[in-house]
Amino acid sequence: MRILVTGGTGYIGSHTTLALLEAGHDVVVVDNLLNSSQESLRRVQELAGRKAEFIQADLLDTAALDAAFDGRSIEAVIHFAGLKAVGESVAKPLYYYSNNVVGTINLLHAMERHDVRTIVFSSSATVYGASEEVPLTEDTPMNAVNPYGRTKEHIEDILSDLGSADPRWSIALLRYFNPAGAHESGRIGEDPTGIPNNLLPFVAQVAVGRRDKVMVFGNDYPTPDGTGVRDYIHVVDLAAGHLAALNYLGEGPGVRRWNLGTGNGSSVLEVLTAFSAAAGKDIAYEFTDRRPGDAAVSYADPSAAHADLGWRAERSLATMCEDHWRWQKNNPEGYAAG
Ligand code: NAD
Ligand code: UFG
Repeated sequence: MRILVTGGTGYIGSHTTLALLEAGHDVVVVDNLLNSSQESLRRVQELAGRKAEFIQADLLDTAALDAAFDGRSIEAVIHFAGLKAVGESVAKPLYYYSNNVVGTINLLHAMERHDVRTIVFSSSATVYGASEEVPLTEDTPMNAVNPYGRTKEHIEDILSDLGSADPRWSIALLRYFNPAGAHESGRIGEDPTGIPNNLLPFVAQVAVGRRDKVMVFGNDYPTPDGTGVRDYIHVVDLAAGHLAALNYLGEGPGVRRWNLGTGNGSSVLEVLTAFSAAAGKDIAYEFTDRRPGDAAVSYADPSAAHADLGWRAERSLATMCEDHWRWQKNNPEGYAAG
């Protein structure tokens, strides 16, 4: 198939682009490079031994979007492009609603104009908010607690309404749990700009000496060791989930939502122990206050994805840490060094 991948130079998009190329698909990447570099795509192509087309364009630029579809016979879209920093979304809600929601509406208009009605969308477990009912199933009500999460909730609603209004659409809403790790080659991985918001990239930067210590947000949660529990999923498993969803969509129209997680929860201290073992060094940490809005425990019931897609996450937390560390050790400054 010929697939247009928005956000394809980013963390999850680059790993999925590699999986698509390896599976024999043709890929057109559209990204404005706001939070990524074209170096990731250069390395993806090197690993795949095949080329993808790159178009630098912003989803808010409708003419550029139309041009990306023009004459390319795109059959499906995987839509990763978006802003994802929770704290920034609280400070700049309009920026987030414009970029994520308006950007998606522009994309959907461009798709309609070009007769493309198959889309896989990057949603998030963040749509479940601070629900304490675990495991989280696709039927757990959406209740996002910050503007970033609400952009995902609104986009899910828009896509559901679109699918109801026009039954020609095939739509997959993939709710990722906590992506971690990197491709086993150590050539591509997560390269956050500024101070990482998420645990794994922060721990990796401490391990490589870019930061002094990890601040552990709360040790008084009602969990076995008092720290927050999450469902970390290897980014390569996540990428495979997109190919499985795309296959499923090929069988017919409709709107479907799936959790992509492992079904296992790990605490912050368990992650620190696993990363320390992978890196072969101690990782300094200190307990501090809880981060506002954080749930104590979040992990998926991934059984629907297994039943419908025949997909399940295969890689362990130890593998995620080993792969994340290989990437960080080989690329201490991320893609900056080229
Ligand atoms: P990322 O920032 O690495 O990738 C997103 C890409 O989108 C970047 O390359 C960025 O330059 C591009 N982009 C942003 N706005 C754009 C616009 N208006 N036009 C064109 N390109 C634009 O993030 P990621 O971790 O790879 O996440 C991919 C998707 O998955 C996002 O939608 C994110 O919200 C979602 N998600 C991520 C996580 C996570 O923890 N990483 C968890 C759940 C869901
Ligand atoms: N944590 C720390 N210190 C840090 C960073 C995180 O102790 O420096 C803790 C958090 O309190 C939480 C756990 O590590 O208990 C994981 O935190 P992350 O920020 O890595 O992940 P979240 O579960 O908070 O959120 C992430 C993304 C969201 C996404 C959600 C579910 O940031 O966008 O996973 O997919 F929606």
